[in-house]
Amino acid sequence: MGRTIDDLWELVFVIATIVFVIVQVALVYTIIRYRARKGDDSEPVQVHGNTRLEILWTIIPVVILAAIAFPVVKGIFDVRAIAEGEDVLQVQVTGHQWWWEFEYVDLADETGRTLVTANELVIPEDTEVNLTMTSADVIHSFWVPVLAGKRDVVPNRITNLTIIADDPTPPDEPHPGQCAEYCGLAHADMRFKVHVRTDADFDAWVDQQLTPATIPTEGAAAAGYETFNITCVACHNATVAGPEGAEDIGPVNTVEVDGVVFTSSLAPNLGHFGDRITFGAGTFDNTAEHLAEWLENPASIKPMRPDLNDIPGGRILGMPSFNLSDEEIANLIELLEGWK
Ligand code: CUA
Repeated sequence: MGRTIDDLWELVFVIATIVFVIVQVALVYTIIRYRARKGDDSEPVQVHGNTRLEILWTIIPVVILAAIAFPVVKGIFDVRAIAEGEDVLQVQVTGHQWWWEFEYVDLADETGRTLVTANELVIPEDTEVNLTMTSADVIHSFWVPVLAGKRDVVPNRITNLTIIADDPTPPDEPHPGQCAEYCGLAHADMRFKVHVRTDADFDAWVDQQLTPATIPTEGAAAAGYETFNITCVACHNATVAGPEGAEDIGPVNTVEVDGVVFTSSLAPNLGHFGDRITFGAGTFDNTAEHLAEWLENPASIKPMRPDLNDIPGGRILGMPSFNLSDEEIANLIELLEGWK
C-alpha cells in the first residue's frame, strides 16, 4: 500500500512546510523589527501571562496535530488490512539467510506441485497481491520501496502485506526490493525484484513456470545435468520432466506456521533459473560471466559462511564452493541458462 503511505507523507510535508515558512518569516520579521536600537534602553512590552495568547498558541498546534493524526491512524489500519476475495493473488513468502522464496499457493500443475520461485516475484498489473510471510531462520523485513512500506518477516509467525502495482515493468527494469532488517553477513545482498506483467504475460509466465524443466540429453548441458545431480541437488530443487512425468530432483521441505504450510527450501528452486535476470538474491546480473565467478566460489562475491555447519535445521549460511573445474562450471552454466 505504497500510495497510502505516499499520500500521508505528502500531506504531512505540505503542513510542515506551511508551518516552517510562517515561523521563519515571523522570526526574521521579529529579529529585524524589534532589534535593539542605539540609544534605546527602554524595556519592551511584556506579554507573559497573556491568557488570550496562551490559548491561541495551544489551540493552533492541537488543531494541526489532529489534522495529521486522523489520516495517519486511518492509514495505519488501511496498510494493515489483509486483502481478501477471489481476485486476490495469494503468494507465500519465506525469508531465508540470505534469499527470498515465493510460493504461489493457488497456482499448481496437474500433479499438485505449487509454483515456487526465488528472489524474483512476478505479479500481474493492477491486482491485489496478499503476501503471507514467515521466516526460516531470523527476522527479515520485506521491502519494495515503490510498492509498499516495510513489513517484518518473523520465524514462527505470520505477517501479511498487500501490494498492488499499477503498471507493468520493463523486462529488465523490475522494481527493486531489499531485506530491511539486519539479518547477518549478507543482509545487504538479500535483495529481490518484483516484475509486474500484463494479465496475458503473467498467465504465460505461470504456464512456463508450471512446465517441468527438460532433462538435456546431449552436449554440455547434459554433462551439466550430471554435475547438477551430484552436487547442487543436496540443497537445490528443480522439477524436471522425467520419464514418468514431473519429478523433483532435489529436496522439497515445508514448515507449518499457525496452520499455514510454507514451502521452505534449503536453497532457491532452480528449475527456471534461465528465466531470471538476476541471481544470488537479486544481487548479480544473470550472465555467464557472473555465474562462473559464483560457481567457482560463491562466498568470494557475496559475504556468506557456508562452513558453519552447526545451524539448527541443517541449514547452511550460504552456498559453499564445490571446487568445480572450469569445464564443470561451463557445463552447469549451459544447463542453468537453458532452463527458462
Ligand atoms: Cu534478511 Cu536482512
